[in-house]
Amino acid sequence: MDTITPENISRPRPKTGILEIEAYVGGKASVDGVAEPIKLSSNENVLGSSPHARAAFEQNAGKLHVYPDGKAGVLRDAVSAEFGLEPERLIFGCGSDEVFTLLAQTYCEPGDNVVQGQYGFLAYRIAGRAAQAEVRFAPMPRLRFDVDQALALVDDRTRILFLDNPGNPTGGWLHRDEVERLHRNLPGGCILVLDGAYAEFVDDPGFSDGLDLARHAENIVVTRTFSKIHGLAALRVGWGYGPAQMISAMERIRSPFNVNLPAQFAAVAALGDKDFQAQSRALILQWRPWLTQQLGGLGLEVMPSQGNFVLVGFPREDGRSAQAAEAFLASRGVLVRGLGNYGIPDHLRITIGLEAHNRKVVEALADFVGQPG
Ligand SMILES: Cc1ncc(COP(=O)(O)O)c(C=O)c1O
Repeated sequence: MDTITPENISRPRPKTGILEIEAYVGGKASVDGVAEPIKLSSNENVLGSSPHARAAFEQNAGKLHVYPDGKAGVLRDAVSAEFGLEPERLIFGCGSDEVFTLLAQTYCEPGDNVVQGQYGFLAYRIAGRAAQAEVRFAPMPRLRFDVDQALALVDDRTRILFLDNPGNPTGGWLHRDEVERLHRNLPGGCILVLDGAYAEFVDDPGFSDGLDLARHAENIVVTRTFSKIHGLAALRVGWGYGPAQMISAMERIRSPFNVNLPAQFAAVAALGDKDFQAQSRALILQWRPWLTQQLGGLGLEVMPSQGNFVLVGFPREDGRSAQAAEAFLASRGVLVRGLGNYGIPDHLRITIGLEAHNRKVVEALADFVGQPG
């Protein structure tokens, strides 16, 4: 026990490790002097959301005084039917972010560790540290997740290995056989989290969303979100699919009414709107290669991406840094994501936009690159 001093009895103190956590900072939403900037900083759906989802949300506006169904029954049935999954193996969260937190809170204690890629999604490290686990970062050579590097960090206190596939912010992805190899080599007590937030935007036939693998595994949880292809980021709905006993353990600490009522109905309607999903996917599949090729043509380094965004590398030295490019784009009314907090300050992440947005990005970056140095 700590010695009692005037300092530590005079005010509440967060538990060990909390003050070492860097709070999550979302993409910029405004810039001085621009009334309606083009927001390409948060990997949102630039088509908005399904009109059916909006209608369902509005239809439930008269029920704001009523608690939602804590089990998210209508949504559970819809997800179960859509993906062919056992309803009792699903858990719903206030965004998939909450599912990561529930996993870490349920499975980690001091002395445990979690493993993630060096440039993996920021929410994992927050979830792990909040549960007082050590977070181990597997090196990602050339910004790619490397199965052997990750496995090298796993020991008998590794409770969770988080894999964003495709990855944010890199856009990189692992093929089905690599995911299977990763899983085969994990000890049974380590949970493999396969985060498929961007799975619907993948067009590589070698990719799998992992649901088939999870079906027969005792230690895989697949997570998905309504924030991306369905454009419901504001409503905060995500889900996880895992072994029944894992879901049952997590359910014990889930906040009872964590997915709000209009969100549940909007998500069901979104799931049913195949046209909107097809349009959202088609937009990305059309403009992702275009942006990759155009920005590459400007001499910038563009990572191959399977997400709804591209990662663009800028030279470090000649005055055309990523920070300068971010400021230049902002001055043209385009907001993108700087990646200092991911440890890749010489890159920017740019959400794929509507045609006019994408053309504006390329035009602006052509001007930026062509400026006298
Ligand atoms: C890889 C990845 N996983 C999960 C999420 C979070 O999704 P949600 O909005 O469901 O919390 C994001 C959001 O940007 C993401 O990039």
